[in-house]
Amino acid sequence: MGSKRAMLGNGLGEILERMVGRHERFVDLFAGSASVAWHVASRYPIETWAFDLQRYSAVLAAAVVQRNKPADPVKLWTEWLRRAALRFQAVDVPMSKNINEAFVLKARHWASKFDKTSLVNAYAGHYYSPVQATWIQALRDSIPSKSPDKEICLAALVMAASKCAASPGHTAQPFQPTDTALKYLQISWQRDFCVDVQVALNQVAPLHAQVVGEAHVEDANKAASQLSQGDLVFIDPPYSAVQYSRFYHVLEAIAVGITSPVFGVGRYPPLNERPSSQYSQKTTSLSAIQELLSTLAERDVSAIVTFPDHECSNGIDANLIKSAASKIFKVKTHRVSSVFSTLGGPASKTRGPRLARMSADEMILCMEPK
Ligand SMILES: C[S@@+](CC[C@H](N)C(=O)[O-])C[C@H]1O[C@@H](n2cnc3c(N)ncnc32)[C@H](O)[C@@H]1O
Repeated sequence: MGSKRAMLGNGLGEILERMVGRHERFVDLFAGSASVAWHVASRYPIETWAFDLQRYSAVLAAAVVQRNKPADPVKLWTEWLRRAALRFQAVDVPMSKNINEAFVLKARHWASKFDKTSLVNAYAGHYYSPVQATWIQALRDSIPSKSPDKEICLAALVMAASKCAASPGHTAQPFQPTDTALKYLQISWQRDFCVDVQVALNQVAPLHAQVVGEAHVEDANKAASQLSQGDLVFIDPPYSAVQYSRFYHVLEAIAVGITSPVFGVGRYPPLNERPSSQYSQKTTSLSAIQELLSTLAERDVSAIVTFPDHECSNGIDANLIKSAASKIFKVKTHRVSSVFSTLGGPASKTRGPRLARMSADEMILCMEPK
């Protein structure tokens, strides 16, 4: 998952430290992996709200921002596993120590017998081994019914699924059983999914907000119109012209629990079911950020924006955002070096061919009402 985690230790954390205390609520409008929402909610006595177009992101945020007490990961796992194991054991799952092309084809054939809306049908033999996919389905169907256990377990499931996915970085396309990619498929398929869930539970269960907040699936521009004076808003919008939902559709389906029938090598649901962002379209990205900044200025809130300093594939760069913001906010600029995912965006004229991860300077714009 793409994340601002590294930047929290590289300038952003200090800026938050200085600004959070002067505000009554922290609002992450593009929460993604929820790393910033978790950071603020767990460190500071401030109500934290998180928004994103994607459900998996709201799931991750909710697990921490919506509770103010630690949970016991061992107790959670023991009870969850007991229920899920019954479901897992009811399935006759093909297994093999030797992951070769024949086994991959066998796995796909086996998965095709499951209901087309099941996670096993969609992903076994592709992003996950039959054993992993069966555990994902069994654990998803056995999520505790009550909050906050429900949110914690769901987040751990999404985190483990992200770690195990047999795909390069994001779930855009799974590795195929070719001569070059088979070894990567093997590495992912051989992961013990239940161990990855326990590791995730150990990470997330002890973490909690100091003040109970909220997490929602909502468009940032709509959410902004509900904000008010005293809010500190964090804005880390898309920089790619490729929709995020293209890369996170597997986590999205796991967060929801079922999927529409999937198609293609990437195992996508139909396009009209994938969240689409105006920030990931070259023709609308600038007007979207301008509209967002205007709404925030009208609401008299402070904001922190992070964005790469060069023109990104969605056509905007930090200087464009800065000049739009300077008309309506007092803006201070900080620059940090970072490595970020290109999310497979098209090659750039100035920066050459597309790379999976790119180093570049990123700007942090701190905005206060005029
Ligand atoms: C650059 S990522 C944010 C990463 C995040 N700060 C982190 O640390 O993981 C941008 C996020 O914005 C979300 N997004 C895109 N358009 C949106 C919109 N209009 N409203 C809310 N979220 C949006 C995407 O789903 C994606 O998760």
